[in-house]
Parts: sequence; structure tokens; C-alpha cells
Amino acid sequence: MTTAPTHAKGLEGVIAGETEICNVEQSALIYRGYEIADLAANASFEEVAFLLLVGHKPSSSELDGFKSELIAERNLPTAVVNFLKDSGDLVNNQFAVPMDILRTAVSILGHLDADCQDNSPEANLNKSKRLLAKIPTIIGHMQNSIEGKEFVAPNPALSHSANLLFMMTGEEPSPEAEKVMDVSLVLYAEHDYNASTFTSRVIAGTLSDLHGAVTGAIAALKGKLHGGANEAAMDMLADIRRDIGSENDTSKITDWMHNAFTEKRKLMGFGHRVYKNGDHRAPILHELGKKAAQARGEEFTKLFELGETVQHIMETEKKIYPNVDFPCGMTYFTMGIPVPQYTPIFVASRITGWCAHIMEQHAHNRLIRPRVAYTGPDLRKWND
Ligand code: SDX
Repeated sequence: MTTAPTHAKGLEGVIAGETEICNVEQSALIYRGYEIADLAANASFEEVAFLLLVGHKPSSSELDGFKSELIAERNLPTAVVNFLKDSGDLVNNQFAVPMDILRTAVSILGHLDADCQDNSPEANLNKSKRLLAKIPTIIGHMQNSIEGKEFVAPNPALSHSANLLFMMTGEEPSPEAEKVMDVSLVLYAEHDYNASTFTSRVIAGTLSDLHGAVTGAIAALKGKLHGGANEAAMDMLADIRRDIGSENDTSKITDWMHNAFTEKRKLMGFGHRVYKNGDHRAPILHELGKKAAQARGEEFTKLFELGETVQHIMETEKKIYPNVDFPCGMTYFTMGIPVPQYTPIFVASRITGWCAHIMEQHAHNRLIRPRVAYTGPDLRKWND
């Protein structure tokens, strides 16, 4: 037997490939050479989506064409609409959660996409655009069904971010809400070999199709150690609020946190496999979300103050810093978005990163098949 190579649990620190798309470092987060704070301040989500999927900053005519393509593709095929009509019952009375509904809807979209079995660069790019355009409609129709409401039709006059919010509520968002959503989608769009993106590359690496790779990535992102943490972070803050009452009493918050430490609880929205001195995205979203909370009223500013106390305790006592999911939970709550739609909205953004990586994998493929150290029984005979 060959000597088992040394291995890192969870592939921690392992360089598992090469990419031109993104670099996640303690020093900076870069999308195709552009630093995340630069993009958050100066680029729209449509521009970042084009950058990730096509590979360069769009000219104004390229951006106009891209936006028109996305708007034209927002509607869903009848089979997906019919499935989403049942989604409210599956969530309210059966065992599904919105991330499961989104995963199934994307899978059905694959059955209805003429390019589904075509892994060529052109077919993959067209499928990526169609998924980018349609996922907000899936989220909106699903939320309408959960609330027992008629489906809201996509609004071609609205930007990608504004239409995402509009699809869930039927009300056009304020420019401020549109901006907060847009920046959150820019921040969530891409993050090199995170678990869901790596999942999509493993699937694409077998030369399976883009819809299949995205379906697997959605399943991976659902987990609360990954994308599901934005919902879990808000649930944790709701638990703290329930336990300490409406006032942010620092000693009560500290006692709550110390109990959590004693129980060895993982505090959702904190820590990161790569970032050990803080997530570049978190302060950007925290600042935007806090401004939205101040505009919304006392309940919401107190939520952010509660979050800041929790964060201070984690940083000073555990040297563990918030990741992007912690401010996201508070921000989306302030915007009135239902908690179970937080991770589906993460998908509405990360579909751009996933598809960029799937296209890169198909274009420069080598099957992803690592080795494993065997720790089972020694060789033995069946009839011994
Ligand atoms: C995302 O990879 C990406 O890029 C992901 C992402 C992206 O954009 O794609 O950035 C998005 O998924 C962000 C992460 C969201 N997940 C959470 O917020 C869940 C809570 N976080 C932890 O489960 C944890 O921090 C992980 C999973 C995110 C990272 O964990 P690691 O690298 O496996 O580190 P670890 O669990 O081994 O922790 C090291 C130590 C442990 O202490 P010991 O057991 O060694 O004494 O730090 C402690 C952990 O207990 N620790 C925590 C903690 N995170 C780490 N303790 C309490 N609460 C936490 N959140």
C-alpha cells in the first residue's frame, strides 16, 4: 500500500486548484483584480455579475445589453410556476424549507432548458444568464405562495435588486432599500473555493451539466456552517432578544454569551475558515445595514446595538470575528425580509460566482478526485 499522504481535515489550507475569478486573502478580497470595497462602493450588482460571468468590466453598451437580456429572461416556464404554486404547502405543511424549494425549482429549469446537456462556453454562459434572471422570480413566487398570495409578475422597469425585493412583496422598494440589497448582492457574489463553489466544480469536473452543478451548490450552501448562517445568525439574535428582554442590558448579554461558551455553542455568523482577522465584507454591510436600521426606528437600531455587543464579546474574549452573514441577518431583518429567504437571496447572488467557476472548470477541466487515508480494518478473509 502506498504511504498515505498527509491530509488536512476539511482540506484546511489545501490549494485545490487555480482560478482567474477570485482571491480570498487576509489582506484583501479580489474579484478578477477588483477589490471588494471598490466594487461595493462603485459597481452595481449587474456590473459585477457581468464581470464574473464574462470576465471584464462591461462597457455601457455591454451593460445595457446584459440588463435587457436579464429582464427578458425573468419569467418562468409553466412547469416551474405550477411547482411553485405548491411550494407554500410544501413549506407550511410538509417538510421543505425555501432553500429546498429553490433547489428543486432550479432542477426543473434544467429539464426545460434546450441547452441543458450542452457544456460549451456559449451554452453555459446563456444558461448562467437565464438562472441569474430567473432565481429572483422563483424566490418571489415561493414567498407569495407561502403567504397564500397571487404571484407577483416581474417588473421590467426595475433593476435586478429592486425587482428581487418587488417580487417578494408586490411593492416597489425605496431607492435606499434597493441600494442596500444591491451592495449585499455584490458582497455575496463570489468567494473562491468555498464549500458550495467547490461542490459545483467537483460536479462540473465530471463533465456533468451546469444545472446539476448549481443544484449541488444550492444544497451545500443551505448548511448553517456555510450560507445558512445568515438565517441562523438572525435566529440566534432573536433567541438573545427573547431571553434578555427588549433592553440591551450588557450584563445579561454577557451572561448569555458565557452560557453559550460553556455549552460550546457555535455562534452563527462568526468565524471563517480563511479570514482569521475579520471578513472584509462584514464592516461594509454592517455600516449600510445600521444606517437602514436608524432610518427604520428604535427596534432596529437596538438590534444592531445588541449585535455590536455580541461582536465585542466574541472579538475580545474569543478573538473570533463576524463574517458577512452576521451583518446580513440584521440588515435583511431591518428590511423586513422573511428570515427563511435570506439564504435563497444569497443564492440569487452567488449564482454568478458558481457559474463563473463551472465555466472555468469546463474550459480547463481535470476530474477532481483526491485520495483518502484508510483507517478501517486490516485485510481479512470473508470465510475466516
Ligand atoms: C460562509 O468559505 C467561505 O468563503 C464561506 C463564505 C462564502 O462567502 O462563501 O464566506 C460564507 O459560509 C461564512 C461562514 C458562515 N458560517 C458560520 O457563521 C457558522 C459558524 N462558524 C463556524 O462554524 C466556523 O467558524 C466555520 C465553520 C465558519 C469555520 O470553521 P473552521 O475553520 O472549521 O474552524 P473551527 O470550527 O475548527 O474553529 C476553530 C476554533 C474552534 O475552537 P476549538 O474547538 O479548537 O477550541 O474556533 C472556534 C471552534 O470552536 N470557533 C467558534 C466559532 N467559529 C470557530 N466558536 C464559537 N462560535 C463560532 N462561530
